[in-house]
Amino acid sequence: MPGALPDGEPVPVDGSLPSSRAGRNGFGVYVHVPFCASRCGYCDFNTYTATEATQDGYVEAVLAELRLADKAISPGRVDTVFVGGGTPTLLPADDLARILDAIDKTWGLADDAEVTTEANPESVDPRSLLALRKAGYTRISLGMQSAAPGVLAILDRRHTAGRAPQAAVEAREAGFDHVNLDLIYGTPGETADDFAASLDTVVRAGVDHVSAYSLIVEDGTRMAARMRRGELPYPSDDVAADRYLAADETLSRAGFEWYEVSNWATDRSARCRHNMLYWTGGDWWGLGPGAHSHVGGVRWWNVKHPSAYAQRLSEGVSPGHGRELLTPADQHMEDVMLRVRLSDGLPLATLDEVGLAGAAKALADGLLEEREYAAGTVRLTLRGRLLADAVVRDLLP
Ligand SMILES: C[S@@+](CC[C@H](N)C(=O)[O-])C[C@H]1O[C@@H](n2cnc3c(N)ncnc32)[C@H](O)[C@@H]1O
Ligand code: SF4
Repeated sequence: MPGALPDGEPVPVDGSLPSSRAGRNGFGVYVHVPFCASRCGYCDFNTYTATEATQDGYVEAVLAELRLADKAISPGRVDTVFVGGGTPTLLPADDLARILDAIDKTWGLADDAEVTTEANPESVDPRSLLALRKAGYTRISLGMQSAAPGVLAILDRRHTAGRAPQAAVEAREAGFDHVNLDLIYGTPGETADDFAASLDTVVRAGVDHVSAYSLIVEDGTRMAARMRRGELPYPSDDVAADRYLAADETLSRAGFEWYEVSNWATDRSARCRHNMLYWTGGDWWGLGPGAHSHVGGVRWWNVKHPSAYAQRLSEGVSPGHGRELLTPADQHMEDVMLRVRLSDGLPLATLDEVGLAGAAKALADGLLEEREYAAGTVRLTLRGRLLADAVVRDLLP
């Protein structure tokens, strides 16, 4: 990998970071909270249960990384903060407030900053939601996954079917204008009616954002092992395509509009600005175990285990574990892969000869919108969204 550093070497604080460029197109902070009450069988995120890692010292370590980061860059201001996991709301709301306050004191939150935390539906209540809102969180993203009890059981979720929409209502009542519900579709055993009920539930919950992901069977997970043993069937691409069409139809009818292949919002102001920053080549610093960062064409990532992370920081050493310098070719590839998935689309002018030929083919196949194409933009049709990966392959050398 280009530019990879050996373990233990300070990553960004070595003068190699083009800090003068930090935040030219907006700047975000990601905070990874790597703790969960239990591990869902399908999940391969960097997260640990209480027997695998302690939460003690986590917040202090994050604050220490923030102090190191402040020596490396001066972004001017922070436009978005996204606290993700894991289950951030396993931490007391006071801890999430302390982290946000430290980010504000260090770099300054923009007046209109978007501040999101992910939350598992069973890990919040009206009191904690009020405390988060008071602390400056403006957006909450709840992992609902499904409204069908049988599907939640196969996914090893801890919440009951009614808890996610109820948490969404509580979040609204606590003053959150922006509330997202995450769905997973294509789980073994899920019927078309189950998914229709999930969609009906998110529409009735009064949220302004929905993410719907096709179940990915990740190597090394309990779910993958169950499928290998024949205890669960593998997901089917045809079923996933049917579910996607159902999602788009129901959400569109309810006033949502897609803005990224897996994301729908009620209007532009309801789009997740932090994720938009990821998808449009923006700069962000990722704090926490295993967090990834990207500033000015340099990408790096932290050691994964919370104790290794805390140990490094207690010794005043960067938790950075490796990095890569993105070449112009890497940046072009990422730009195509991510922007094609956006409803705002990709300017045709950014494509080379091969990409232009690929775009013409995708247009002829009905995968791109004709009007946008004529105006110089690659924008997927509904059928194109189903085949987004194939379109990306056509646009790249
Ligand atoms: C990492 S989780 C964090 C949120 C929170 N811990 C939760 O599960 O409710 C973020 C979202 O990623 C999605 N996700 C995680 N693993 C997935 C997988 N294997 N396939 C599809 N979606 C997945 C789920 O929708 C989940 O809500
Ligand atoms: S899906 Fe969410 S709750 Fe489940 S293990 Fe992964 S991060 Fe934790």
